Amino acid sequence: MKTNFNEQNLELTVIKNLKENGLPIVRRMEFRNADLAAYTLNEKGDLVPEVVVEIKKEPSKEAQMQLMRSAESLQTPYALLATPDRLIWFESSTFLPIEPPVFETKNRYIEDPDQLNQVFKYILDLIRENIYSSKYWLYMLQGLLVRTYLFEKSSIEQWYELSQDNYFELLETVYKHYEIDHYVEKPKMPERAFQQFIWKLDEIPPIYSKYNEIILNHMERNGSTGAHMTSPPVKDLFTDIINTLNLNRFSVLDMGVGYGTIATSLLNSNNNIEKLTAIEKNPSIFGYYKMLNIVSGQNKSEVVLGDVLSSENNLQEADVVVVDPPLGGFQEKRDDISNFQVATEGRTVSTLDLFMERATELASPGGYVVALVPESFLFNEKSNFTRSLLKDRMIIESIISLPPHSLKPYTSVKVSMLILRKKKHKKETGENILLANCETIDQFPKAVAGYKNWKSGGDLE
Ligand SMILES: C[S@@+](CC[C@H](N)C(=O)[O-])C[C@H]1O[C@@H](n2cnc3c(N)ncnc32)[C@H](O)[C@@H]1O
Repeated sequence: MKTNFNEQNLELTVIKNLKENGLPIVRRMEFRNADLAAYTLNEKGDLVPEVVVEIKKEPSKEAQMQLMRSAESLQTPYALLATPDRLIWFESSTFLPIEPPVFETKNRYIEDPDQLNQVFKYILDLIRENIYSSKYWLYMLQGLLVRTYLFEKSSIEQWYELSQDNYFELLETVYKHYEIDHYVEKPKMPERAFQQFIWKLDEIPPIYSKYNEIILNHMERNGSTGAHMTSPPVKDLFTDIINTLNLNRFSVLDMGVGYGTIATSLLNSNNNIEKLTAIEKNPSIFGYYKMLNIVSGQNKSEVVLGDVLSSENNLQEADVVVVDPPLGGFQEKRDDISNFQVATEGRTVSTLDLFMERATELASPGGYVVALVPESFLFNEKSNFTRSLLKDRMIIESIISLPPHSLKPYTSVKVSMLILRKKKHKKETGENILLANCETIDQFPKAVAGYKNWKSGGDLE
């Protein structure tokens, strides 16, 4: 009987076979003679080329010659000729057929950050080219989430068996399992692209502590998220200022975590954080942040879907409260904000004023509020009341004025960072305020150093 030769299908079968035989990494050889090359990973996580593969309808002298040349150029000890009927293994030194060798890889997944980034980029391009949706981030994150789920259930080997329909079915279960209460989008890919997605994701770990950072960096660079992300220099400024406080075993509350650039950077840079509570009211963004934490194995972050201004969320006081609020919004008066002091006058109240008052409640006595406010908040008459409420409850330690482009590309509003410490008793007063003016973002580290020096009682520059 004559079989229809389909090179692409055979390729996937061969890749699966190679992986099962201890070769976790398989690459297409775009510019060489062979079709594929397969690798083990050594102790250091480097790729070690083991075999080149030629996929042909049937064995031939030319195919064998081609294989020999590729094996020589990539210096692999083995070569494989794959036909629909059989797999013929050769030893490169003699080019005699041999029994299938057994490979032993020292590592199962790519963990080197540069290589991992390359795999990420490859998968993202693949998704972008093959789904008709702008949500390729979500698609990637969903893939990682499914793998985390399978890994936690000790069933990671099921990953390679998933058809597209099964995958989406499983995704529903996974969303339920992790309580991601959000509609599951299921953009279909051509089957071959989907198999490639499966194959490539299988090269990277099911859980990896830096996934959150890698994904946020990619998202940032691709500018695909709009105003819900803090720009990298301001994210670093928040992180460095909070790390300068030198707190031991402390808790953090992020009052509108967005995709979590600040929260992630804090968690990844400070082991003294015991717990970080992140609240976000947009369900879709909340879902992203939650997934990022799960696939990164980040279990110090508690994520709450809700309105930080509402008292129904039972938020606990924290040692550090991060306020990176939506800039410039107003809220109609409604029952649940009627008990805010800043909401006593007028028909509407600025969201920022509400955020600042709430922050003073959510900081523990002696704890800090680190907040980004538009410059107008510091001077305009409308915020008079809020400013005096802050002075009443907090010690104003520092005001760092940031240059106008700090939040670009999201907004060009000029902002300042406030560092406030909550009074332990009403009569407590501060000695002096550190005022810093950064004319460029390059001066942020100097502002951090100045604040550190000021905190330790040093002279002001
Ligand atoms: C400027 S973004 C925060 C960006 C974030 N800091 C980051 O690290 O990328 C403000 C976030 O606050 C959220 N937000 C606005 N009002 C809120 C509220 N009342 N309660 C909780 N989250 C809120 C918005 O949905 C938005 O994601």
